[in-house]
Amino acid sequence: MPHFSYQHGELHAENVPLTQIAHQFGTPTYVYSKAALVENFRSYSDACKKHGRGDDGALVCYSVKSNSNIAVLNLLGKLGSGFDIVSGGELLRVLAAGGSPRKVIFSGVGKSREEMCLALSHDILCFNVESIPELHRLNEVAAELGKKAPISLRVNPNVDAKTHPYISTGLKDNKFGVAYEDALETYRVAASLPHIDVTGIDCHIGSQLLDDAPLLEAVDKLIELIDTLAAENIHVHHLDIGGGIGIDYDGDKPVAVGDYLARLFAKIDAWRAAKYDGTPIKVLFEPGRSIVGNAGVLLTEVQFIKHGETKNFAIVDAAMNDLMRPAMYEAWHGVQPVKQRDAATAIYDVVGPVCESGDWLARARELAIEQGDLLAILSAGAYGMTMSSNYNTRGRAAEVMVDGAQVHLIRQRESAADLFALESLLP
Ligand code: LLP
Repeated sequence: MPHFSYQHGELHAENVPLTQIAHQFGTPTYVYSKAALVENFRSYSDACKKHGRGDDGALVCYSVKSNSNIAVLNLLGKLGSGFDIVSGGELLRVLAAGGSPRKVIFSGVGKSREEMCLALSHDILCFNVESIPELHRLNEVAAELGKKAPISLRVNPNVDAKTHPYISTGLKDNKFGVAYEDALETYRVAASLPHIDVTGIDCHIGSQLLDDAPLLEAVDKLIELIDTLAAENIHVHHLDIGGGIGIDYDGDKPVAVGDYLARLFAKIDAWRAAKYDGTPIKVLFEPGRSIVGNAGVLLTEVQFIKHGETKNFAIVDAAMNDLMRPAMYEAWHGVQPVKQRDAATAIYDVVGPVCESGDWLARARELAIEQGDLLAILSAGAYGMTMSSNYNTRGRAAEVMVDGAQVHLIRQRESAADLFALESLLP
């Protein structure tokens, strides 16, 4: 993880020792590196520029669900990012962070009338529509507001993303998107509705993809469809390829973003040159994990060491409610002691205090640790805090962002009182 490194035997986020953060803000705490976020975003925006795509030619719409802290959104917005949202709540976050609604695209299979109304009233860039009933609802809501809703259809290209089944979304039996075979007919319906304006096409085939081949295959399918639509006089002005590029969790070797974008733009440019006299088409991306995943760790303290009959447990103060991914997907996260000890190691399961056997963060790790030591759970910047819960009446963790030698608190730790503040007793 760039920007998280050992200096004098102690793990730092940029120039700040994680021990200092634990003393100042307590544990568990999510720690993000600003430099890592900037660098990861620029891997997309620089590649777009390098291939001659300015603001009209490409837009990176950061996927808010991966990490929705308003400080993260504000930082990315300032770098020029747009936003991929999946709820009215995420739109309100983007606005609170100073993001531009004109750069917002709205994905998701179940948009409510209220959410459509909110998004239309802020003139978002595009609705990524996932079904015919959704088109009809959007048409009605737009009519009530006297507006035309810009839409793209999320087409299911039916390519195998070769990733975990829970996070693969482009196959036939997923709930997402419109089947490839039904796409033409669905576009015809969209084009016939008076308050719908067809502007684009999109797909998202899955997450944590290490290879870009499935993405390029999906683009081939979309290109074919765009040509078929053009022959029917339905013209799309942008192509949104979704997110999905993976990160290194356990020695994984994801494709470099710059290489992926170079291959993608070469394909698109060749197609436009052959069929559209070189008229460009705007390209949109919806990356989440590849921007924030390796920009954050979860800092936690060992409460007890417990020697069970068959296993050793390191019981830490972070739990499945803070980081759901291991319990939910058996996801692997690296674990590093903040201070390296010159002592004998043992094999531990790193577990939390929640009353579930599924409450584990890492299994069978070789560590030299003692009670009171700090551990960093690595690669926790994406789908960490955003998937956290209050199970067992545990307040959610604090979040801090490190910038060089400075640390900024970007979310306070929740208190128990916060957790039941909205509840009431019977009269
Ligand atoms: N666009 C759409 C429509 C999506 O559904 C997603 C993620 C993204 C973009 C961003 O994908 P990314 O670049 O982050 O791969 N909770 C799971 C991941 C779920 C991904 C959901 N969709 C995890 O912790 O691995």
